[in-house]
Amino acid sequence: MDCRAALPAHSQYIRIQIPPSCLAEFWSSLITSFYFEHFIFTTISNQRKMVKLCGIGAGYVGGPTMAVIALKCPSIEVAVVDISQSRISAWNSDKLPIYEPGLENVVKQCRGKNLIFSTDVERHVQEADIIFVSVNTPTKARGLGAGKAADLTYWESAARMIADVCTSDKIVVEKSTVPVRTAEAIEQILAHKSKGIKYQILSNPEFLSEGTAVQDLLEPDRVLIGGNEGPEGQEAIKKLKDIYAHWVSEDKIITTNIWSAELSKLADNAFLAQRISSINAMSALCEATGAQVSQVSLALSKNPKIGPRFLNASVGFGGSCFQKDILNLVYICECNGLVEVANYWKQVIKVNDYQKSRFVQRVVSSMFNTVSGKKIAVLGFAFKKDTSDTRKTPAIDVCKGLLGDDACLSIYDPRVSADQIKKDLSMNNVQWDHPIHLQPLSSSSSNGLEHVDIAEDVYEATKDAHGICILTEWDEFKGIDFQRVFDDMQKPAFVFDGRNILDVGKLREIGFIVYSIGSPVEQWLNNTVNSAVPF
Ligand SMILES: NC(=O)c1ccc[n+]([C@@H]2O[C@H](COP(=O)([O-])OP(=O)(O)OC[C@H]3O[C@@H](n4cnc5c(N)ncnc54)[C@H](O)[C@@H]3O)[C@@H](O)[C@H]2O)c1
Repeated sequence: MDCRAALPAHSQYIRIQIPPSCLAEFWSSLITSFYFEHFIFTTISNQRKMVKLCGIGAGYVGGPTMAVIALKCPSIEVAVVDISQSRISAWNSDKLPIYEPGLENVVKQCRGKNLIFSTDVERHVQEADIIFVSVNTPTKARGLGAGKAADLTYWESAARMIADVCTSDKIVVEKSTVPVRTAEAIEQILAHKSKGIKYQILSNPEFLSEGTAVQDLLEPDRVLIGGNEGPEGQEAIKKLKDIYAHWVSEDKIITTNIWSAELSKLADNAFLAQRISSINAMSALCEATGAQVSQVSLALSKNPKIGPRFLNASVGFGGSCFQKDILNLVYICECNGLVEVANYWKQVIKVNDYQKSRFVQRVVSSMFNTVSGKKIAVLGFAFKKDTSDTRKTPAIDVCKGLLGDDACLSIYDPRVSADQIKKDLSMNNVQWDHPIHLQPLSSSSSNGLEHVDIAEDVYEATKDAHGICILTEWDEFKGIDFQRVFDDMQKPAFVFDGRNILDVGKLREIGFIVYSIGSPVEQWLNNTVNSAVPF
């Protein structure tokens, strides 16, 4: 006997095989037994409790977030949908579309059980009780607010599709980072076509960091849920809270009004980026005065009011979020007439641009004021270690700066494909924000790339090179055999450590001329950088 036919699609069921000769006896004993009551109760309560989730957007946020929810809530069906066939195919394959430590393991444990990846966006949206929207929200390229405001095209088209296909009440969760009061706009789109359907919009911004996304999702420092203050809003908040409560303790789940939640995410990224720009600004002063930025960082980190994190000086911050979210914040401030506040946050980006530009100038001026025709090995292209993401990586600006001085680049990154690097170097700034598969084909795709070579490993990249730039802090680079590298390089051999991960003393012993951000500068290099200009 197959009980499935009698049960609604979302119910959990038990399949019991009974030989026809025993059916009568089975039913009579079942009806009178405790087990029958238990069976019926379980089925009905499962039917009531069963929740189906749909995550729109299978990117760096949507993919890992929904996979971890599926892992932690085996009784919940999770569908992750995307308009990109190639992304969904990759999620369904052995080579996931993004690299994150631990992600493969999480996906393997639930894919095909309670986690599916699909391009059938409309069906899964229609069937879901709760819809998480994790589509991209890049900086607007054209029109009003261009270069600052968030481009909500992807969000709006997702909202319109939800309004078109839904036939029952839904909770819609903003996972994307959006400007304050986006929920209001989404509500209007949904209400316009509501057909009597009730929608509750929640803001549940994601705080994961790429490179540690799975760890951050498994053990979040907080989960923030903003919702409407009325009873229906509070009920929706509770439903989302119940999902997180499967693995997150209650004291870590913060609930706020919806506008506070939206603004908190922008503020969070702005504060983190500001911290990086602060230590990077100090690194310039350290180089000018003979102080050592790592020592300054250590001293600061011992102040409990400051703490140790985000105090490493570097060639600059990158990633898809920091710059775009600060620009968005600046735009919101300007729209509200808060010019001084807008200028304050703008400065965080200016210092970041200054840091990248300063680095390029240091390389060029150290190498006798020109890198024309010289081979420079670029080690690391991802915006940070343990991710394959290159969006807004400082490596793009640095490489473009060096190519602008006619350098020949040999680039090696352990996780970023040759194709990706070439695409990044042939695109303009605004395009970097958009996922590759959503971009128009660039007609200028070979621009300047004749001087770019992608190497298979560190030793190929550095062979016969005049200089090395470390642009990502991959652990692999700490284990390089620098004596071997030195022997194979042109002399004098330069190392420019944009991440401060190398042992400068050892490198100097080998014979390298070394520049490390924020460290006292060797006499050789000291005739430089008074006039760094932004890109
Ligand atoms: N990447 C991060 O570290 C991070 C962290 C926190 C928050 N965020 C925010 O999360 C959002 C998503 O970021 P991401 O890095 O995952 O972006 P992403 O570009 O990697 O992924 C977005 C996905 O949404 C898909 N998409 C766009 N419109 C769609 C539609 N209408 N229907 C279905 N799919 C659609 C795209 O095809 C793409 O695969 C952004 O707002 C970002 O600011 C990102």
